Amino acid sequence: MSNTKYVKVLAPGTVANLVCGFDVLGMCINEPNDVMEVTMLDTKEIIIKSADGYPLPLDPAMNTAGAPLIEMINEVGGNVGFEVIIHKKIKPGSGIGSSAASAAGATVAANHLLGNRFSKEDMVRFAMFGEKVASGVKHADNVAPCIYGGITLIRGIHPLDIVSIPSPDLFVTVVHPQIEVKTSDARQILRKEVKLKDAIKQWGNIAGLVAGFIQNDLPLISRSLEDVIIEPVRSILIPGFDDVKRLCKEAGALGGGISGSGPSIFMLSETEATANAVNEVMKDVYNKIGLDYNTYVTTINKTGVKIVDA
Ligand code: HSE
Repeated sequence: MSNTKYVKVLAPGTVANLVCGFDVLGMCINEPNDVMEVTMLDTKEIIIKSADGYPLPLDPAMNTAGAPLIEMINEVGGNVGFEVIIHKKIKPGSGIGSSAASAAGATVAANHLLGNRFSKEDMVRFAMFGEKVASGVKHADNVAPCIYGGITLIRGIHPLDIVSIPSPDLFVTVVHPQIEVKTSDARQILRKEVKLKDAIKQWGNIAGLVAGFIQNDLPLISRSLEDVIIEPVRSILIPGFDDVKRLCKEAGALGGGISGSGPSIFMLSETEATANAVNEVMKDVYNKIGLDYNTYVTTINKTGVKIVDA
């Protein structure tokens, strides 16, 4: 019999920015996933627990899963609360949407226990409070694809305007070199002003990438995976970045770049064989540098946070 007070969800990783779309494009992937267990309480409180001893902030207001739920229970009113047990599989500071997975996973699970009273857009609105805790800024390019699945365009956040973009059946290879890059630091180093000629290139690429996804035009996707504004600044934080990018493209990848704010790097490929070859290239680069890493060969997750036990 299903338990109306308990739910377990898989909260997937996400690749924000998709190279050219800083803060406006994001993609959900099938690996890695956080596992979250959420129980509804009849007291107005949020309890956060780390399942495996991973040192997460346990004060709900400081926790990326807790902050959205505080907003949610305030909006619901009455004596409702949640206990959240987090199995943290997506490392904070990896660039694969760790904070978003916690925020979106908790929000979707709690909404399920509340009888799905909130829309997907409402859930993104709540989950963005988790991103604020993590990086100081309410960006939606990880939480929106995590909740909607697939590829999302965040046309605006004031008010929220989220557009689901059709996702082609591509393979995704991700390498996570084992260094931590805090999103707040990776935002701090960005220039506050952009040259008009760079802006023109960038919005041409964003429009080209979206059109490429809609038309399933792989050469157009490939040409549009270019970032002339953010990548030149952030890539200096990632050892081996230029080699990974060049060699993966030589191995047949359509293209790719920094995943979110890094240090992970992602590549899109048309076939699984190419995605596996790209994986070998990534491993080779970091073996030569002598830096530990994890890699994932995965696909685009078209459903977002998934309920696995209720
Ligand atoms: N758009 C955000 C950034 C994503 O690049 O700072 C962080 O994961």
